[in-house]
Amino acid sequence: MTELNKKRIIVTAALPYANGSIHVGHLVEYIQTDIFVKFLKLTEEKAMYCCADDTHGTPIQISAEKEGILPEELIGRYHKEHLRDFKRFLIDFDSYYSTNSKENKYFSDLIFKRLKKKNLLYKKEVELAYCKKCDKFLPDRYIKGKCPNCGAEDQYGDVCEKCNSTHKTTDLKDPYCTICGKTPVRKISEHYFFKLSEFQDKLSKWFEQNKNLQPEIINYLKNWLKEGLQDWDISRDGPYFGFKIPDEENLYYYVWLDAPIGYISSFTNTLKGDTKKAEKEWNDSRVIHFIGKDIIYFHFLFWPAMLMGADFTLPENIVVHGFLTVNKEKMSKSRGTFFTAEEFANKYNPEYLRYYYGKVLSKKLSDVDLDFKDFKDSINNELVGNLGNFCYRTLSFTNKFFDSEIKDIEKDPKIITEIEDKIEKIKRHYLDVNYNQASKEILAISDIGNQYFQKNQPWKLAKEDKEKARKVVALCINIVKNLSILMQPILPEFSKKVQQQLGLKDLKWKDLNFSYKNKKIGKAEILIEKFEEIIEETFPLDLKLAKIEKVNDHPDADKLYVLDIDVGRKKQMVSSIKDYYKPKDLEGKHIVVVDNLKPAKFRGVISQAMLLALDDKDCTLLFVDGKAGDPVTFGNLKNNKEQITFDQFTKLKMSIKDNKVAYNQETLKANKKEITVKAKDGTKIH
Ligand code: MSP
Ligand code: ZN
Repeated sequence: MTELNKKRIIVTAALPYANGSIHVGHLVEYIQTDIFVKFLKLTEEKAMYCCADDTHGTPIQISAEKEGILPEELIGRYHKEHLRDFKRFLIDFDSYYSTNSKENKYFSDLIFKRLKKKNLLYKKEVELAYCKKCDKFLPDRYIKGKCPNCGAEDQYGDVCEKCNSTHKTTDLKDPYCTICGKTPVRKISEHYFFKLSEFQDKLSKWFEQNKNLQPEIINYLKNWLKEGLQDWDISRDGPYFGFKIPDEENLYYYVWLDAPIGYISSFTNTLKGDTKKAEKEWNDSRVIHFIGKDIIYFHFLFWPAMLMGADFTLPENIVVHGFLTVNKEKMSKSRGTFFTAEEFANKYNPEYLRYYYGKVLSKKLSDVDLDFKDFKDSINNELVGNLGNFCYRTLSFTNKFFDSEIKDIEKDPKIITEIEDKIEKIKRHYLDVNYNQASKEILAISDIGNQYFQKNQPWKLAKEDKEKARKVVALCINIVKNLSILMQPILPEFSKKVQQQLGLKDLKWKDLNFSYKNKKIGKAEILIEKFEEIIEETFPLDLKLAKIEKVNDHPDADKLYVLDIDVGRKKQMVSSIKDYYKPKDLEGKHIVVVDNLKPAKFRGVISQAMLLALDDKDCTLLFVDGKAGDPVTFGNLKNNKEQITFDQFTKLKMSIKDNKVAYNQETLKANKKEITVKAKDGTKIH
């Protein structure tokens, strides 16, 4: 359990990669950490929530190359997006920084130099995959081939997605360069290695001393230590998006070297970039990391060893959580169970998710399931039905029966001790990151309040003994106030509203008591809405704009073209429009295509998309101005992304109405603009 002692606590969550959107899986961690920091702040500890974007490495380089932009532009865009998403989920950072910062360069160099000076680094030749054509060493994402362990095709150079085994780029069978497709050769390069092997005893001692570690973690660590620790290659050949190693021609720090150092530089950011001060203050602070179970190795072995080697204070705890599953399965786009933070917040109140994660998260490493049925029931029965209802009922009753005024409190000793007891437990559960237990106790307090209210029937009592009834309700008002404090780490917005209605603000843990009396409260307003199922209507096809790049004749069919198209990705499409269009009428134009049909072969040539055309004598196509890959939709219907068969396609009824393409009541739009085409009403589309 985390102790409270007023010393500064730097709390971190793992730094999300800067080439993708935050999704509900990530949010498990950022919300879990946020609840912890909010709780510490509530108890008036000097807690700080520090995080940053993890900006370096090959995948980011590749993402930027694909978009044809500089990595700096890509990471800048994601920085803004991440901040926006976190804010919507009421996650408050004291610093949200970037690993591509001067502070991070400073600390990476500093730590590297200290390790070097202490003889904890050495140079060694390694044999790496190298593409002669691209004149480049090929790190894991730039090379593919057959997995050396299970033989699965098309696997990257680091880990096999089929069998999960790890390998080196040079171990791949039949390797090829993902940029140019050529077979790479082996080439020697000199890299820096960190002597992790020298930390065997020190790490083992550190784990033993640390009373906070989760039991499941201790097992992992014991096994790793038993197997023996391998020295770690901490450099990469250029071109690489990262920090160049001082005095080296073409060597860069491997992203996992400077990523955790980002914790220190994010903290430095709160000190206006004063690196000297930051080092001192970091070493005088307590540090607690929150991470997911996929990055245990980095945080429990490499990172503490680096800190020890460079004379920095070690974290006092590293809290590890499991992975998110949705309805007990891995999140999946095609099952509709993958949500970005933005998509989720557009559909549901973000506090619903905070509530649910609070309800299910514990100190355990087991996976966290977002079960949609349970999600909905929990929101409606517990958050809205129990908690929200009790608070609203008490507040509005005070408005109505007592002209918003409370005076003395009915000091029911049984109720009060019961609640005080629970408050102590809740504190311990928060400190233990067992939010599930904390939530349970909080709901139990709300239950006690509800039952007490019900049992005393203040609406009847008010007629017999108004002052007695007022006292009863005043006790309930105090329970409401206390609930707003207890719940604040999980539901900051909800709490704020309750406190506002009570005429209070920013209450702290020390304000938990039964002494709120002789006050006039504000007007009760609904605190939280019921969960409503949003039924989203979908259209079965994934329609998009395709740019026709090149028109080729089909090798074996007179009436067919083979078109090279771009739908955001390059694809090839076979189409029977040769009798109607010349290549020059098509090339460079944008047309509407179906992008989710099962690929099919036409006379031996594969077709990965299909165009929409009118069923008229000219086989009119839908030419539109726009960009390759732009979505084309019927009104507000969402396009289905799952693959469908040709049969399903032919059953759809689209036709022309008023020179527009109609489906049910909706008309076809590209980028919100209606698509128009000259044709008779009723002409079919196929
Ligand atoms: N950049 C590294 C961390 C560097 S820390 C010095 C990284 N980034 S990540 O974006 O892939 O993940 C960030 C955090 O989110 C990790 O702790 C990871 O475990 C967590 N999660 C990512 N996907 C998740 C789920 N589906 N479920 C729960 N947590 C998940 O790793
Ligand atoms: Zn190549």
